[in-house]
Order: sequence, then C-alpha cells, then structure tokens
Amino acid sequence: MRIVIAGGHGKIALLLTRLAAGRGDTVVGLVRNPDHVQDVRDHGGDAVVLDLESASAEQVAAALAGADAAVFAAGAGPGSGTARKETVDRDAAALLADAALIAGVRRHVQISAMGIDRADDPGVDEVFAVYLRAKDAAERALRDRDLDWTILRPGRLTDDPAVGAVALAESVEPGAVSRADVAAVVLALLDDPGTAGLTVELVGGGTPVAEAVQSLPRTRAE
Ligand SMILES: NC(=O)c1ccc[n+]([C@@H]2O[C@H](COP(=O)([O-])OP(=O)(O)OC[C@H]3O[C@@H](n4cnc5c(N)ncnc54)[C@H](OP(=O)(O)O)[C@@H]3O)[C@@H](O)[C@H]2O)c1
Repeated sequence: MRIVIAGGHGKIALLLTRLAAGRGDTVVGLVRNPDHVQDVRDHGGDAVVLDLESASAEQVAAALAGADAAVFAAGAGPGSGTARKETVDRDAAALLADAALIAGVRRHVQISAMGIDRADDPGVDEVFAVYLRAKDAAERALRDRDLDWTILRPGRLTDDPAVGAVALAESVEPGAVSRADVAAVVLALLDDPGTAGLTVELVGGGTPVAEAVQSLPRTRAE
C-alpha cells in the first residue's frame, strides 16, 4: 500500500511510518520543514516538503498521486495559539480531503480527538476550546466529502511504548492511549476499508488491535 501522511514528522506519523514501512508499505510524509526529510527517511519513509497552511489543494493532490490512502496526522501542537488551530487542525485537514478528491485517493483516516463536544463546557481553556471546535469542523468537512473516510478520536496521548491492546468503539470512557498504539490502530483501519463511514474513539484497553478493529460495526455493505 502507498500511504501519504499529512504532518509526516509528527510523533504518531513517524511511528506509523516505521510500522508501515517495516511490513513493506510505501510511506510518504508531507513535512513543512526540509530539515525533517532525513528523519522521515530514517523511519523508512520518504518525504515531500509542503506547508499545509500555504499549499494549494492541487499541490497536495500532486503529492497524493498514486496513493492508496491518505492519513491526516498533522496538528498545530500544544504551544500554538488559536490561529494555528484553525489553519492546521481545521483547514489543513479539509485541504487534505480536497486534495484526496482531486487525486482520486478514496481511503482516508483522519486523526481527530476525543471530547470535541466539550468546547463550551465551563472551565475549558480558551485555546483548547478553539482546538476542539477546529477538530469538530475538520470532522464535519471530511464527512461532507465523498471519500472512504474513518475518523479516529484518540484520548490523551502518551509516549509510552505500544501495548498492542486498546479500547476502540464509537464511544469509550475518557482515558489515555500511547501514540504507538494509535499508529497501530491507524494502520489496521487502513487495512480495513469496511470501517469507512465510522467515527471511533480510542483509549488504552485490553482488546488486541486487530480484534478491536474487526469488532467495529460496519456501516456500509462490503
Ligand atoms: N496531544 C494529545 O493528547 C492529543 C489527543 C488527541 C488527538 N491529538 C491529535 O493527534 C494528532 C497527532 O498528534 P502527534 O502528537 O503525533 O502530533 P505532533 O507530534 O505535534 O505532530 C504534528 C505534526 O504536524 C505538523 N504540522 C504542523 N503544521 C504543519 C503545516 N503547516 N504543514 C505540514 N505539517 C504541519 C508538525 O510539523 P512541525 O514539526 O514542522 O511543526 C508536526 O510534525 C494531532 O492531530 C493532534 O491534534 C492529540
């Protein structure tokens, strides 16, 4: 499989690159910093330098040409202000989906976040609320597009080693999950186009990743 990852130098993206490349997939990471290209290569992938806050959909589509799947794993990151939540977490996600439509790459996994319905809860930090609304808008933008999308909402991310077992369902209790387990779930979702049309939440748990993905409900006839 040829997989293109937006935000190719992110922590989940690099773990996914190593996992996918390790089993023979071709991975191309879209990175905005030329200094990150070698890192992606060191993880077994290749990289295309593209800033998703300034690239056109046609430029991103060119990078997607010939791919079997696209993954949105970019994010403005914890140190960023509200503006970049909108330009990256919301707009860059929609840009990748538009580019996928142009390139004819139907399979799409978008990394979203648990708790996006909590933006208006009392006590939620303003920047975090903007982030949650940006993720929510990105989800809605993807659902509006005619792609075979699966939206994955992880809980709080950790850098712990992979456990290989998770809790994955349309709704799970809040919790944490390692980025390594998220990467494994993304790969298993890519392998299973029958999960298209699902929005699923993910935290650490006791079900082996392959079994957790197989157990998801199917929304479309296969
Ligand atoms: N942190 C949490 O607890 C949590 C929970 C649930 C979901 N998530 C979501 O999980 C996803 C991945 O998390 P992660 O920890 O792997 O993220 P990460 O390590 O922060 O990686 C995000 C990547 O996006 C890239 N990026 C930012 N702006 C870009 C642009 N304009 N063009 C191209 N790439 C750009 C960054 O590149 P640079 O290195 O150049 O900045 C970075 O490599 C994110 O979507 C995040 O919102 C996070």
